[in-house]
Amino acid sequence: MIRKGIILAGGLGSRMSPLTKAINKQLLPLYDKPLIFYPLSILMLAGIKDILIIVSKGQLGQFRKILPEKNNLGIKITYKEQPKPAGLPQAFTIGEKFIGKDNVSLILGDNFFYGQSLTNTLKKNLKFKTGAKIFLHPVKNPHDYGVANINTKKKVIRLKEKPKITQSNLAVTGLYFFDNKVIEFSKKLKPSKRGEFEIIDLLNIYRKKNKLKAEFIGRGGAWLDTGNIDDFYNASNFIAAIENRQGLKIACIEEISFRNKWITKKEINQAIKFYGNCDYSKYLKLLIK
Ligand code: G1P
Repeated sequence: MIRKGIILAGGLGSRMSPLTKAINKQLLPLYDKPLIFYPLSILMLAGIKDILIIVSKGQLGQFRKILPEKNNLGIKITYKEQPKPAGLPQAFTIGEKFIGKDNVSLILGDNFFYGQSLTNTLKKNLKFKTGAKIFLHPVKNPHDYGVANINTKKKVIRLKEKPKITQSNLAVTGLYFFDNKVIEFSKKLKPSKRGEFEIIDLLNIYRKKNKLKAEFIGRGGAWLDTGNIDDFYNASNFIAAIENRQGLKIACIEEISFRNKWITKKEINQAIKFYGNCDYSKYLKLLIK
C-alpha cells in the first residue's frame, strides 16, 4: 500500500526569475491558487493523507502561512528543508525518517495533472507492493523530460534523461511510486554530469532489476508543464477555461477533503475564516450550503 506522499517543492526556480527571487515557485499563482495546491490535490485524490513537503532552505515560513501543519484539511503535513538543491532523489534521503519502513509516492511540486481517469488509475495503483512505478504521458517535446521507450508488451526497455534524439514520445511525468528500497538505492547514486542526483538513474536501478512498471496517462488526461513563464500562463488559462465553464474548481483542497469525508462543515467554515472574503471562500460556502 502507499499511504505516504512527498511533495518536492524545493529548487531555486531559476527559470522563472525574477518572479522566484523572493517567493518559492510553488507558491506562485496558477490561475486562482498557489501552484502547490495542484500536486497536493493529486495526492489527496489518491487518498494519501500523510504528506511531507520539502521546501528550499529559508522558505518554511512562506509555506506554513498557506499550508500550516495544523490545517483544516484532515491531513498530516510535515515539513523538511532542502539544504541545497542536488536533484530529485534527495527527497528520499531528506525524507528517510518520514518514510520509515513504508512505501512512498513522490510528486514534483510544479507538476499539473488533470483528468478523472487519473484519479482512478492512482487509486488502482495504491495497492502497489514492491518495485517502482512511473506514469507516462505522450508529449510533443520529449527531449525536455525523462523519456521511456517501451516494447510491444508495454514494458519499459530504456529510460533516458532529456535525450537529444528519441523514437519515443512518452515523457516520464513527475509522479512516482516506490517501495522502501528507494532510500537505500538513493544513497548509492552518483552525481550526473550536471552535478545532480538523477531520478532517471534511480529508476534505472529498478528497471535493471526488473522491478519497474509503467502506467499510462492517455490522451484523455492532461499533464501540463509549468517550467517557464509561457507554460505557466498556458496552464493558468487551461484551468480558467474549465473552472469558468463548469463552475467547479480544480484542486480545491478543502472540497477534496470534504468529499473524502476527512472533514466536516466545521472545518470548511474554519477554512472560510482563514482565507477571508474572496472567491475561493465563496466557493467553499456554496459547497456546504
Ligand atoms: C524532472 C525529471 C524528468 C521528468 C520531469 C517531470 O526534470 O528529471 O525526468 O520528466 O522532472 O516534470 P526537471 O524538471 O528537473 O528538468
